[in-house]
Amino acid sequence: MSVSIKINGRCLSAEPGQTILEVARSHGIEIPTLCDYPGLPSHGSCRMCVVEIQGWPNTPTACTTPVADGIVVKTESEYLRSLRSDLLRMLLAEHPGACLFCPENQNCEECMITLRKAGVTTGCRSCPSDGACTLQDLVKQYGLNSVAYPVRYRALAVEKEDPFFDRDYNLCVLCGRCIRVCESLHFTHIPTYVKRGSQTRVGTSFGQSHIEAGCSFCGACVEACPTGALWDKTSKWDGKPDSEVQSTCPF
Ligand code: FES
Repeated sequence: MSVSIKINGRCLSAEPGQTILEVARSHGIEIPTLCDYPGLPSHGSCRMCVVEIQGWPNTPTACTTPVADGIVVKTESEYLRSLRSDLLRMLLAEHPGACLFCPENQNCEECMITLRKAGVTTGCRSCPSDGACTLQDLVKQYGLNSVAYPVRYRALAVEKEDPFFDRDYNLCVLCGRCIRVCESLHFTHIPTYVKRGSQTRVGTSFGQSHIEAGCSFCGACVEACPTGALWDKTSKWDGKPDSEVQSTCPF
């Protein structure tokens, strides 16, 4: 039996077991997300999708909270906007942000295309995902214009040894989409979280190369990455794709 809920004043019907995010999306209501990815179970790690529910003391994540009959949900408010902005600021304390905040950003975008080929991404246009990055989109959407916390650059070497992909985990936001897509949709466990606490990053077990770990280089992890951390070598500097085709061939 379906349940009735209210989102932003709209009365909607939902199926038991659906999450607030699923119901909102199916009715055209946008909630910002970063760790959510089609076909994957909810992760609840980025917390960008926090919402207010009348009578609840906290702000639960829409992607992990199942609907209940009669709940009244707000997906946009000044309070939620400031919470999401703060969450983004914390993410940016570990993510190079010059492509986001430099006052010369616009000039750079138009004139300094060659900068895109820098070996390590520390700023400006040297990120292969520049212009196609979910984090960049969110920062623009929330109008952030400076870094709020001390920045810690991870200074990890870009991994270029494997034949098809480059990996720059300085740009990783630990959303786990690459790990979960490999586990849940492809039933392999090549990428995983390594180390703990502030040292946590994505890697392979026992520091193996991806070839040694048995990776088939299907490209699903690259496609799932919301930033410029994972890149297909052949298209790394090609910019945004101008079209998409359906194909069964991963290469
Ligand atoms: Fe809900 Fe990341 S999308 S916590």
